[in-house]
Amino acid sequence: MKKALAFGFLAALTAVTARADTYPQRPITMVVPFAAGGPTDIVARIVAEPMSKALGQQVVIENVTGAGGTTGITRASQAAPDGYTIMMGHMGTHGAAPALFKGLKYDPATSFDPIGMAAGTPIVIVAKKAMAAPDLKSFVEAVKTGGASINQAHAGVGSVSHSTGVLFDSLIGAKPTLVVYRGTGPALNDLMAGQVDFMTDQIVNVATQITGGTIKAYAVATPERNPSLPDVPTTKEAGLPGYEVSAWNAVFAPKGLPEDVRKKLVAALDAALKDPNAKKRILELGGTVPKDGEAGPAALQKLVESEVARWTPVLRNAVDANP
Ligand code: MLT
Repeated sequence: MKKALAFGFLAALTAVTARADTYPQRPITMVVPFAAGGPTDIVARIVAEPMSKALGQQVVIENVTGAGGTTGITRASQAAPDGYTIMMGHMGTHGAAPALFKGLKYDPATSFDPIGMAAGTPIVIVAKKAMAAPDLKSFVEAVKTGGASINQAHAGVGSVSHSTGVLFDSLIGAKPTLVVYRGTGPALNDLMAGQVDFMTDQIVNVATQITGGTIKAYAVATPERNPSLPDVPTTKEAGLPGYEVSAWNAVFAPKGLPEDVRKKLVAALDAALKDPNAKKRILELGGTVPKDGEAGPAALQKLVESEVARWTPVLRNAVDANP
């Protein structure tokens, strides 16, 4: 009997060790819940490359759009927790969505194994080049008096552009027409073409166009100016001190990863964020890389819990105050 038990234990141990040595054996899918070319996709592709190197298998981006990012995140949350499906979530899908998205099919704080923060992405108030207002104060007046004739782009209820946009509208007491896109990548194309008037978007998506002069930036919603956009004032400098908001993008896996697999994914993201090219790319687009204490799964879990707690009352009040 004892022999059989020992044998069984040995077999189980060999199987676990074998998996630890062999994961990953095939490409890994990283679900990006918004359209290609937008900020979440940009951050995902920046980190996917060095993660592929670290893991020895390709991390393949799959854009699964719709419903403010919740379609893609729901699908990824229901995938097998085997390390072959991960996702790039953010302050919208894993922070604001519970407040704004009715019937969410996942819980940001319990449906996932957090892998780690990928990039901080400050919010910029951007408008089409033809927007006449010369500064934020007159832009705010134009949006208020323009009412429904002003078109504001966003990427779906609960997305970053939607939640930070709703906050902006409520703060200034404006009711523009909200125009939904499958991501702020496509929204930016329309902004550049003058088909839509403005949006509040993540800096990594719009920094290049602002510098290139194809769209206008009224302010960055952070306490300090952003090094990639030195001439863009902060909201405080521009006369809207109450509007300070930053987003973030982070890697999650479905809940229940085997510990050895989870550790390999955490290590691969850590290596990616130490990759000089990846860091350079995130910084030159105005993003931030996690500082010590902000990286890793425990910090991300704490952030998700605090962001859901923070955004829920703020966004519910914003919607109630400005239905
Ligand atoms: C995107 O990648 O399109 C954005 O993250 C969408 C959003 O949350 O605004």
